[in-house]
Amino acid sequence: MEGREDPYPRYRRLREISPLVRADDGALVVTRHADCVAVTRDPRLGHMPSHMIDFVSPGWRDHPALRQLFTSILTMNPPDHTRLRRLISSSFTARRVQALRPRIAEMVGDLLVRMSGEVDFIEAFAFPLPVNVIGELLGVPEPDRAQFQGLVRDWTQVLEIITPEVLATADPAATTIREYLSGLAAERRRKPADDLISALVLAEEDGDKLTDDELLTMAGLLFAAGFETTTNLLGNGLVALLRNPDQLALLRKDSGLAPGAVEELLRYDSPVQLLSRVAWDDVEIAGVRISGGERIVAYLGAGNRDPERFPDPDRLDLTRSDNAPLSFGGGIHYCVGAPLARLEAQIALPALVTHFPELAFVGEPEQRDSLAIRGYTKIPISAA
Ligand code: HEM
Repeated sequence: MEGREDPYPRYRRLREISPLVRADDGALVVTRHADCVAVTRDPRLGHMPSHMIDFVSPGWRDHPALRQLFTSILTMNPPDHTRLRRLISSSFTARRVQALRPRIAEMVGDLLVRMSGEVDFIEAFAFPLPVNVIGELLGVPEPDRAQFQGLVRDWTQVLEIITPEVLATADPAATTIREYLSGLAAERRRKPADDLISALVLAEEDGDKLTDDELLTMAGLLFAAGFETTTNLLGNGLVALLRNPDQLALLRKDSGLAPGAVEELLRYDSPVQLLSRVAWDDVEIAGVRISGGERIVAYLGAGNRDPERFPDPDRLDLTRSDNAPLSFGGGIHYCVGAPLARLEAQIALPALVTHFPELAFVGEPEQRDSLAIRGYTKIPISAA
């Protein structure tokens, strides 16, 4: 789809034309809020079983980037999904996340005092904060973390359109990430520490454990999802605030607005713009009967701007009530890391805007050339 820079006018047109549109690649696209919710919750929709992936992407098992995606919890179906989700939930608990609050506040404070003059917000803050939070949670030593920015960006290109060129960079990146985590897991097996990798090594539910392969795939997904999307929540959030100074002023005056403000920023410019599913059976979506085997893409970014659900949807309003965004998905695949991403942004954004009373752009933000993941590669600001 075109319109990557500002997809919202295009989403609006799509929503107005028809609730269900066939895209150039044959997928059926839904853009209305209620239909996006239905797509995430309908048990007759799921991910491609492996025989179907064999058909669509022959040889995927020989590509580390695809193998790591297609064998992960993100693209798995019940009962395998249920089993892995239970094991991860027992390690990635709300308590483990809440316990990070003081440490996140400390990291935010450290990053803010180091920022001065003209800086790139992504490099100086939006990347280092989440990568250090998830790195510390997982147990990835500090000096090793920075290399993962490029590696994860290369690997996650497979969430866009998969071409031989994409695979040529995504495969080595996926291999490097996996080899690194394999070394780390081996260390923790010998000597467990108080971190998530050790918890995954030891995780057990009713006698069930993660296999070595499952553990590495899970750790890789948690690490990648743990910073890539949150970097974009902070980046997209700051851009939206700077472009809406009245709203920025509100947050600066009252940090108590942070929880609702973060929901509104997620709604307004979601770091994950779409998710896709396959119909396992004939099913009705958006009032249209569609056949088993069809691929359906739900544009979360479009559903988040549906006027049927959110009045005056193109307006950023940090005080909006009833603004639960679609941005973390829904149903059985609802984002595992949502509480962590929310906590980081709720601490970081008010601290940022109060620390720098004259925060401003000093150049045009540069956008990442991708559609499924929406974010910026550079946001030049003056930190004053
Ligand atoms: C603003 C930040 C984030 C956004 C917008 C986001 C968005 C999403 C979405 C939309 C899904 C569902 C995908 C689908 O149904 O196809 C998802 C799943 C997932 N997310 Fe996040 N995420 C964020 C942060 C995180 C963080 C911080 C972590 C880990 C620490 C994480 C880990 C995961 C995992 C493991 C899944 C797969 C869950 C499953 O399939 O059962 N995410 N995320």
